[in-house]
Amino acid sequence: MSFPTIRPRRLRQTEGLRRMVRETTLRADQLIAPLFIRHGAGVSKPILSMPGHSQLSVDTVVREAESIAELGIPAVLLFGIPAQKDEIGSGNFDPEGIVPRAAYAIKKAVPELVIISDMCFCEYTSHGHCGVINTPGTPDYDEHLCEGYLLNDVTRDLLGKSAVVHAQAGADIIAPSGMIDGMISGIRGALDTAGLSNTVIMSYAAKYSSAFYGPFRDAAESPPSFGDRGQYQMDPGNAREALREVALDVEEGADMLMVKPALAYLDIIAKVREQFNLPLAAYQVSGEYSMVKAAAEKGWIDERRVALESLTSIARAGADMIITYWAKDAVRWMRG
Ligand code: PBG
Repeated sequence: MSFPTIRPRRLRQTEGLRRMVRETTLRADQLIAPLFIRHGAGVSKPILSMPGHSQLSVDTVVREAESIAELGIPAVLLFGIPAQKDEIGSGNFDPEGIVPRAAYAIKKAVPELVIISDMCFCEYTSHGHCGVINTPGTPDYDEHLCEGYLLNDVTRDLLGKSAVVHAQAGADIIAPSGMIDGMISGIRGALDTAGLSNTVIMSYAAKYSSAFYGPFRDAAESPPSFGDRGQYQMDPGNAREALREVALDVEEGADMLMVKPALAYLDIIAKVREQFNLPLAAYQVSGEYSMVKAAAEKGWIDERRVALESLTSIARAGADMIITYWAKDAVRWMRG
């Protein structure tokens, strides 16, 4: 009497069989490439903590955007490093500001590329926090709140104002990243009032207060000058709270959702995917990139394999879109 042999390994015998049964395959269509833009001309200033990435000026970023589009990557995410910072981050809602200028130039040169504008104040404020700070002497000072607290509603209103400026300059998608309460309805209301009801909102719905953002703060020159972002970004221990944050953003009218960072929060990505039907992005953040780069430089790890494995895992967990500093490399690697 012979028994049927149960052998999952049968399906792993050859590359052909493995390709046939592969459940998740990365596509260029899923990727979003972040870009850092600063004033000047002909600028390409390497970001030391993120090998392979540079701060670019408007002219050089246009060339970079062209090469991203040529690779079949559908979208870029813009970050600006303003010439000047102030208490309220007014560079963020200046129509001549760095991101509006870049958005306009990219839209003109590469109209098919989707432009996402990261809508946060930390790059624009002198104190490096993601909005207006409660300080005695400022017009919005609230004596009932502790000093140094990030003022929610003032910040929400300024986000709405900035979103209109960025959308008018050519941004297709506004991506608020400050974890401010009511930011989605605030931005939606401001956009609609300005006649921009077709501008998409991608909410950084569950954004954690993460040490993995370390290298980014170098890239965007935006470290907080005091404290950390724990009063507005989420605590890494919380999962149920992420679902609450996401549910609120869905109610407020978000068109797309995001979880950030990615690899350390795959459970959150999977839960959000299970419970909500909006398109979901995950942000593979600077620290996730730089750790691998550093280990690869030492010869301890195979960058290409680790990057593709991480990206595939993020897609497998449920992300439809992935923001990644490996976007261009990943497409080249996928092509073999
Ligand atoms: C702005 C912002 C940050 C990142 C994206 N948008 C930094 C932060 O919240 O401190 C991090 C991205 C990365 O690490 O790659 N608030």
